[in-house]
Amino acid sequence: MIATLNASLIDRLRRAQHLAVFTGAGMSAESGIPTFRDRLTGLWAHTDPTEVATPQAFRRDPQRVWDWHVHLASTVGAAQPNAGHKAIAELAGKQPRLSVVTQNIDSLHQAAGSRDVIELHGNLFRLKPFIDEDAAFAAAEPPVICRVCDGYAAWRDCDPWASREDFARLRLAAGPVPCCPCCRARLRPDVVWFNEMLDPQVLDAAMNAVDACDAMLCIGASLEVEPAASLPWRALRRGATVIEINPQPTTLTPHVTALPGTAAQVLPQLLATVWN
Ligand code: OAD
Repeated sequence: MIATLNASLIDRLRRAQHLAVFTGAGMSAESGIPTFRDRLTGLWAHTDPTEVATPQAFRRDPQRVWDWHVHLASTVGAAQPNAGHKAIAELAGKQPRLSVVTQNIDSLHQAAGSRDVIELHGNLFRLKPFIDEDAAFAAAEPPVICRVCDGYAAWRDCDPWASREDFARLRLAAGPVPCCPCCRARLRPDVVWFNEMLDPQVLDAAMNAVDACDAMLCIGASLEVEPAASLPWRALRRGATVIEINPQPTTLTPHVTALPGTAAQVLPQLLATVWN
């Protein structure tokens, strides 16, 4: 039984009609994936994100950025969902409505069985074209949308025989940066880098879930990156019951019910206490 959960809170969670689960890198820490901002082990403790995770870095040195993501994918691809991911997937069967909104790019919620996961920052295992709008519109002829990768292309460069299936077969893997089989645009991981906007449709879906929820679990997020960081605040302002699960305090902690602990420890206990 979790000490800080009083009877009224348990009751509010039990009666919630729509539970939103919002997760950050801490959710997957116990699956062996480093977080970003841990001072010793975080990804950004040893690597300057402007060197490997910005469109400018890709323009400057695409191979370096590609290789860094391939290396990251070797850790992420080997990871398995932890007890926290599994508890969230199980919750779907116990709640009238559950939305999972994640900042993680690792597919572990889906691997645990969660469905319709809203991936705010994309997915490491999908590819998309690198769109260099300046270059595309500086060309003599206006660009077209490539029918295979949906990037900007000069129609003269397009291979009429290339198909979407050829594109779908390409993977994030060691080797040279791949190109779209049709328009030859360089491909990149479909993740949100620094200095990039979130996909507006994905952000919209996340905001709709937050606006509709009457309870939210905020798990393993430092709340230092916008616009994702504003989602628990938005839920709180709309009157939802917000519970934070994190071994470290955040700016949100004083305003919500905080369950200090790790995702893999606290979530199964929470599930057992409230929903079983
Ligand atoms: P951070 O690395 O900023 O924060 C991780 C949070 O997880 C911290 O608050 C930790 O205290 C907490 N934590 C660590 N271990 C945990 C565990 N086992 N259980 C629960 N919580 C734990 O990661 P994010 O907040 O996800 O963006 O960072 C947000 C974004 O910054 C990422 O999505 C990424 C990064 O730059 C992009 O890639 C666009």
